[in-house]
Amino acid sequence: MSASSRRPLIAGNWKLHNTVAESVELARAVLHRTPRDAAVDVLVAPVFTALYAVHEAIGDGSVRLAAQDCHFEDRGAFTGEVGPALLKDVGCTFVILGHSERRHVFGELDEAVRRKVAAVLSHGLTPIVCVGEKLEEREADRTEAVVLGQLDAALEGLDAESARGCVIAYEPVWAIGTGRTASPEDAEAVHRAIRARLGERFDGPTAESVRILYGGSVKPANAAALLAQPDIDGALVGGASLDAESFAEIVQAAIA
Ligand code: 13P
Repeated sequence: MSASSRRPLIAGNWKLHNTVAESVELARAVLHRTPRDAAVDVLVAPVFTALYAVHEAIGDGSVRLAAQDCHFEDRGAFTGEVGPALLKDVGCTFVILGHSERRHVFGELDEAVRRKVAAVLSHGLTPIVCVGEKLEEREADRTEAVVLGQLDAALEGLDAESARGCVIAYEPVWAIGTGRTASPEDAEAVHRAIRARLGERFDGPTAESVRILYGGSVKPANAAALLAQPDIDGALVGGASLDAESFAEIVQAAIA
């Protein structure tokens, strides 16, 4: 882990998996394996329908609760949506925003991500802002342009204090659910570019304090090498977070 004062964060994105009962069982298993007062933050992001029950099961202890998305309005004629106030009401403290599946499967645009980030911050919740390039963009040498463009758009209008309330997650689209991971060096290069851009947009202390997670086929076998990079402050884990044992090994890699 980096020598910085940034506390590592390991986040489990359960995506569209698990009934309420299965979610509660998995959450309990994660809680059971998460060391108390460890030098790492741990969170899980179940489906919306399981948030309340998972919060009842884990409380406000060493495992925190995140939602996988939200709308930018709190109430009104927005059929099918859930707003940040309601997520806070069921115990969420984090919200994943702009995940590549939201962007590329559901057509979510930068402007919506920006409005969601502002809404989540206004409720005192922590947005986990996801950015990442597609394979064709990497192959065309456009990785930094795409990633920094998404970052700029998501953080547009924020002051430094608000920016310090965000977590960024770099998830190369080609590495998500594919078993292909960015090499630690390639991931670090993008993380460094993100941190540099935070420094330009805001200030040095803000850039140094914001946690930047890596996501995309993070497994127990590759977690330590990724987390050893100075600008990789944690992981956003999909598939491996559905298994409490694998997830616990990744948490351990962040402590070691
Ligand atoms: P996988 O770990 O399954 O590749 O998913 C990564 C991800 O999208 C986390 O948000």
